[in-house]
Amino acid sequence: MKFLVLPVLPVLLPTLVSAHNAVSHHARQAPTTTSVASGGAASASSSGTAVVGSGIASSSALPSTLTFSLISVNPTAIPLSGIRTGLTQTQSTIALSTTYQAGATQTWVPNAPGLPSALPVPSNYPALDKTPPTDSDLVKQWIQEVMNSDVDIPDIPVTNPGACSNNTAAVANASTNCWWTCGGCTRETDVAACPTKNSWGVSYDDGPSPYTPNLLQYFAQQDLRATFFAIGSRIMERPAILQDEFMTGNQVAVHTWSHPYMTTKTTEQVIAELGWTKKLIKDTLGVTPLYWRPPYGDIDDRVRAISTAMNLIPIVWTRISTTQTFDTNDWSIPAGSTDVYQVLDNWEAIMGNSTKIDTGFIVLEHDLFEQTVDVATGYILPQALAHTPKYNMTPIIECLDMPLSNAYVETNDNSSHPLPLASVQATHTGSSPAGASSTDGSSSGGSSGALSRTNTGPVLLSALTGSILAVVSLLLR
Ligand SMILES: *[C@@H]1O[C@H](CO)[C@@H](O)[C@H](O)[C@H]1NC(C)=O
Ligand SMILES: *[C@@H]1O[C@H](CO)[C@@H](O)[C@H](O)[C@H]1NC(C)=O
Ligand SMILES: *[C@@H]1O[C@H](CO)[C@@H](O)[C@H](O)[C@H]1NC(C)=O
Ligand SMILES: *[C@@H]1O[C@H](CO)[C@@H](O)[C@H](O)[C@H]1NC(C)=O
Repeated sequence: MKFLVLPVLPVLLPTLVSAHNAVSHHARQAPTTTSVASGGAASASSSGTAVVGSGIASSSALPSTLTFSLISVNPTAIPLSGIRTGLTQTQSTIALSTTYQAGATQTWVPNAPGLPSALPVPSNYPALDKTPPTDSDLVKQWIQEVMNSDVDIPDIPVTNPGACSNNTAAVANASTNCWWTCGGCTRETDVAACPTKNSWGVSYDDGPSPYTPNLLQYFAQQDLRATFFAIGSRIMERPAILQDEFMTGNQVAVHTWSHPYMTTKTTEQVIAELGWTKKLIKDTLGVTPLYWRPPYGDIDDRVRAISTAMNLIPIVWTRISTTQTFDTNDWSIPAGSTDVYQVLDNWEAIMGNSTKIDTGFIVLEHDLFEQTVDVATGYILPQALAHTPKYNMTPIIECLDMPLSNAYVETNDNSSHPLPLASVQATHTGSSPAGASSTDGSSSGGSSGALSRTNTGPVLLSALTGSILAVVSLLLR
């Protein structure tokens, strides 16, 4: 395995994250609290409008046409003019095609234990959309487990809210601490691409939402599956949708409890955010996810180490330079700061860049909003399915050449793919995690973790240049 390190201009391009900052975490709630009504439309009330409406640039300056021709469109797509900027629900949501009995098993993860006997009860979990308290018995227990693990948590200060533009000192440190948000640094243990050219590890963030069943219906029609990075607070609202994702062969992974910038949180808070989401997924599906995505991609070596100590492997999205990030920016349509034409232009650029790189790729998209699901099912996915050369579209775990069962602690094949903690332990005791990187080195998840994280990366960086670099760990075959 080789790593390509691309130096870029030492410019921080705060614009890349400033758009994200513009939307409060409230925007990560679905626009309606109505659950998916069986057989019918959810209520059209959109309580989120007021939340995200203010302070966001008007869309009047945005393009209102496409600069390229669509090669394929879903015949039942919402017309482009109907995918409107701002949080306005216009389409009906649909019911889940199936609900599942306790104990139900599936063929996708054949060694999974079967669904739990009951859906989780909200009173047993923390309040939604807030970082959970750190003084509960469970969180205290998880903190102990992290402290007792073999993982060293580096003493990196929490960052200020406001990302790069409000963190002069941390930005100066960004390559040392491998802060992805400001500079795009990744470690060998992060997943940032699929190893094989033209493979797309498809993923959707921030659900389950009232629109997720629309996406799942399209998946069923087209024989597609993906990775869902689910928010704990959204799972609590719609656990049956998470079960449907899981039972139909999608990968379920952690996207935190309340969707904060994780580097702004204390170590105890990071543990609470990750721990409760892992627990809720286990209580809903019967299995514990092994992968997570930091909201906004906001991860540094402290947050990385905490996640390793909690047996979670980080997945970001592909970034080949500061201006070429595989981010559709789809969420900015409901947020009011972009339109569908711009998002499809972004997608066109991603497809163009995908054919220039030597690896496959991972793209940022969302299943939280009506517009993001409409643009995915109507346009982005049809374009991808018609792409030449053909894309191999799978959940991310599969694009890393692993079976779906390796996405969960209980079903993971520990001999070929050691758990993150087991890898750290092996490194500490001096023995090599047998077969880890040779069997599935492509994943860069789980093998020679701690050492490369604390040593190799920074040495590599400072050897190349003293200034800020964007490190693109494109795995080259
Ligand atoms: C910048 O950081 C300071 C210190 O944490 C904080 O009080 C302030 O609200 C932040 N500004 C923005 C725009 O986020
Ligand atoms: C910079 O990084 C070093 C090493 O991790 C750390 O000790 C220091 O506190 C960091 N400073 C800031 C402001 O992040
Ligand atoms: C790659 O992405 C950049 C930035 O989005 C875009 O300007 C460029 O046209 C893309 N390249 C190709 C070959 O599509
Ligand atoms: C892998 O190890 C975990 C943690 O010890 C365990 O729960 C799991 O059952 C193991 N996987 C298999 C397939 O036995």
